[in-house]
Amino acid sequence: MRFVPIAAACACLALAGCGDWKSGQANNAAANVSADSRPADTAVATTVAMRTAAPATKEEALEIMHERHEGMEGMGKATKAIGRELKSDSPDLGVIRESAKKITDFAPRSAVLFPPGTGPDVGKTGAKPEIWQSPQDFTAKDADFQRAAQAFGAAVSSGDPTAIKAKFADLGNTCKACHDKYRSKMKH
Ligand code: HEC
Repeated sequence: MRFVPIAAACACLALAGCGDWKSGQANNAAANVSADSRPADTAVATTVAMRTAAPATKEEALEIMHERHEGMEGMGKATKAIGRELKSDSPDLGVIRESAKKITDFAPRSAVLFPPGTGPDVGKTGAKPEIWQSPQDFTAKDADFQRAAQAFGAAVSSGDPTAIKAKFADLGNTCKACHDKYRSKMKH
């Protein structure tokens, strides 16, 4: 939705120190994002502790795998939407903020969605068995991703297009680093 009159958008963007964004619902979304953001160190410290206990039942395992799939899909859509805006001549900061929130909300959840017993021997999944053969490396990659998601969220809150682009590129590298090793493409 882009119903904020241009003059109003310009005034608020001038205050934010960047002239080339469309505003849309940026202000509301900005409030949401900053309300959610916690100091980086605390949040990372609490979220990199991966869940290591296998689910008690197959049903629980399948639920985790489902949430994992939905969350990853959601992030895939969000990164596409952000990529589109960043390539456009007049990126819509409202769209970027909404999509960024999906990523920053899911990032800490990722730590509990890869317990042992949720691999391809249990059900349909793109998660490779290597995840549970090198848990330390996988955890490190997940931690990199969570940190990058947080830094990206902070850049989006700041509204600075240069920072947003840089942190989005960093974030994309952390998705790729994990996928290259630990994800097999699924056929739907
Ligand atoms: C720490 C590892 C890791 C990180 C980081 C990661 N992913 Fe994934 N991703 C996976 C794994 C493993 C799968 C397969 C999961 C499954 O099928 O259960 C997956 C699957 C996907 C899928 C396909 C849906 C599916 O379930 O097969 C998409 C889309 C996706 N990821 C997007 C992203 C995006 C975008 C990012 C970064 C913003 C990201 N992922 C970060 C490991 C990761």
